Amino acid sequence: MADLIFGGKYNLLEKPTYRYMPGVIETSNVRISALLQAPTLRYDRLDKALFPKSIAARNVFVRFVSKILRDTLKVDRTGKKDFFAVLSSAKDPETGADTVATATTGLFFYLSRNPAAYARATTEIRQTFSSIEDVRMGPKLNSCKYLRACVDETMRMSPSVGSSLLREVQKGGAMVDGEFILAGCDVGTPIYSIQHSAEDFSNPFTFCPERWIVAESGATQESVALASSAYVPSSSGPRGCVEKGMAMTEMMLTMAVVLYRLDLKIAKGDSAGGNPDAEWDRHQPNEFQLKDHVTAARDGPMLHFRERAI
Ligand code: HEM
Repeated sequence: MADLIFGGKYNLLEKPTYRYMPGVIETSNVRISALLQAPTLRYDRLDKALFPKSIAARNVFVRFVSKILRDTLKVDRTGKKDFFAVLSSAKDPETGADTVATATTGLFFYLSRNPAAYARATTEIRQTFSSIEDVRMGPKLNSCKYLRACVDETMRMSPSVGSSLLREVQKGGAMVDGEFILAGCDVGTPIYSIQHSAEDFSNPFTFCPERWIVAESGATQESVALASSAYVPSSSGPRGCVEKGMAMTEMMLTMAVVLYRLDLKIAKGDSAGGNPDAEWDRHQPNEFQLKDHVTAARDGPMLHFRERAI
């Protein structure tokens, strides 16, 4: 993502130098998510006393971002067409890679637990592309409807941003669902809740990519339209995600490359699902466990990959 946006390579996959970054973002976000719910914690800087580790992590993150910006500005940008110019005026580009990572790891989680979906998505990819070099953006990737349904179903079950994106009611107040709300109040419904409403999704806690494909497993034109109307992982309206198209392409491409080349299964020690002995709502083994730290924090899944036998 840093390469795409800033034109710089930090290469976390191959080199350990900056591998501390995702953890630092996650730790920093613990304070931010508490402040989002209770902004009054900032009075007398109570947040400083409550979240010293988050503040230290934030400082590390800010130093890293400053370094990226310094590196970027050193380069002559004449004629360059990266996203830096566009995104430097946008609000929240730093969470982009994180949200994509949550959705991608979520998809690995659900495929590793749902053998039929895994088999179908893998077959689709291996039949669509004739070699690994053939796997790239374009009509063939767009034709992979089942993989796309798996991505959508993952982002429904385990949205990368799961909580309420609060909006302030403007002068004159607002009617929301038959209730009058005074100006100045913040309102919102968590994306996780919207996407688990039984009114819009049958068996909302079941991973079912088929619900997105008309004529599969009982899905009809109406049920797909109803589900789509309550599907908002990238929010909606003028403040919705500006990069959802790019994020989708990145996820489809990553998954297509992995599924083409590798077989996967759950590794020993994986505990990314819920635990039947845990408290209610953390108890479902087939649900990828996320923590709401503005964007979602996660641990795992731990999977075993091996080169596919051709
Ligand atoms: C699966 C991937 C992604 C998800 C689920 C996601 C989700 C979201 C959501 C829910 C919002 C709305 C926040 C609000 O309404 O208050 C948002 C905004 C935003 N996203 Fe994403 N995002 C993703 C990927 C990305 C990527 C890859 C980038 C950039 C590289 C990005 C950049 C932004 C920006 C700049 C905004 C702010 C738009 C504004 O305030 O006008 N996102 N995203």
